Amino acid sequence: MKTLIEFINEEQAHIPNASGEFTRLLNDITIAAKIVNREINKAGLGDIMGYEGKQNIQGEDQKKLDVFANEQFIEALKHGGQCCAIASEENDELITFSNKLSNNGKYVVAMDPLDGSSNIEVNVSIGTIFSIFKRKSEPGKPGTNEDLLQPGNQLVAAGYVIYGSSTMLVYSTGHGVNGFTLDTSVGLFLMSHPNMKIPEGGNIYSINEANYIYFPEGVKEYLRYCREDDPKTNRPYITRYIGSLVADFHRNLIRGGIYMYPGIRKNPNGKLRLLYENVPVAFLAEQAGGKASDGFRRILDIQPEELHQRTPFFVGSKHMVEKAEYFMKYYSKEFAPEK
Ligand code: AHG
Ligand code: MN
Ligand code: MN
Repeated sequence: MKTLIEFINEEQAHIPNASGEFTRLLNDITIAAKIVNREINKAGLGDIMGYEGKQNIQGEDQKKLDVFANEQFIEALKHGGQCCAIASEENDELITFSNKLSNNGKYVVAMDPLDGSSNIEVNVSIGTIFSIFKRKSEPGKPGTNEDLLQPGNQLVAAGYVIYGSSTMLVYSTGHGVNGFTLDTSVGLFLMSHPNMKIPEGGNIYSINEANYIYFPEGVKEYLRYCREDDPKTNRPYITRYIGSLVADFHRNLIRGGIYMYPGIRKNPNGKLRLLYENVPVAFLAEQAGGKASDGFRRILDIQPEELHQRTPFFVGSKHMVEKAEYFMKYYSKEFAPEK
């Protein structure tokens, strides 16, 4: 079976003058992922569950595993020396390094080190999400906010790790999506899901329906459509919601479906963060033949203004996202972003 590293090397061989730096960067991410995976797998046995006692910039209580995962990815990227700055969900400010190697690094990374952390205690799948961009500033100095504030259409690569019934790394460099399963007996990610494609239509919808009364009319109308009885179009659809974006998206990627986290009146940008949740997942969705929008605009075309900026999120099977957008445009014009 092909290992992840063999696959990355093959992909890089097609790029003229590739220096191998990107290969090393991805390799660093897999090292941290394996360490995090090890801790997650024994989470019930040690002292790694529960709260750290601090809040992150979004006012969320940090779990010990949030902090642990964050440290592992930062350390791996720092020692690897290919990355000159990191934006992380768990750090208010951009993370930069003082070592020369990192300051010469060509890349910057935005990451959600542990996604779905409310699911740790209950043994439900969680993940890590990452976006990789090329820096815009001159090498030789620490990376800057501007290096990170790039729209998704500038991504070099993006992916996620899902710590589930098995652990997988799913990523894309803009040439399709490939999935690798961690064989823990040898400690290697092996190609298990080549060239992943999301079905164009699907019948799963994923949304936190407890927020129903706050939803924009467009979302309410779309949900009504999903629940209508019409066997010809496979409706009523089925609903599945784990509460880990990575796990919900991963299932919908394989089965076909839509994940939604809309804005609401008092919170028009929703909950999910553009740079390290929506953009990387949108990139994977598009690379697999799906679609991602904020209800009105392509996620990958949004110019980020801040590291921790949020946007509403509709992602998944192309036809399902288009249908949701149709309802948003028709019933919820007031949520459309100003031009
Ligand atoms: P995180 O654990 O990184 O803060 O992300 C949680 C996100 C996302 O993974 C999930 O889909 C969503 O929050 C769930 O939110 P609700 O509990 O509001 O449904
Ligand atoms: Mn998250
Ligand atoms: Mn997180």
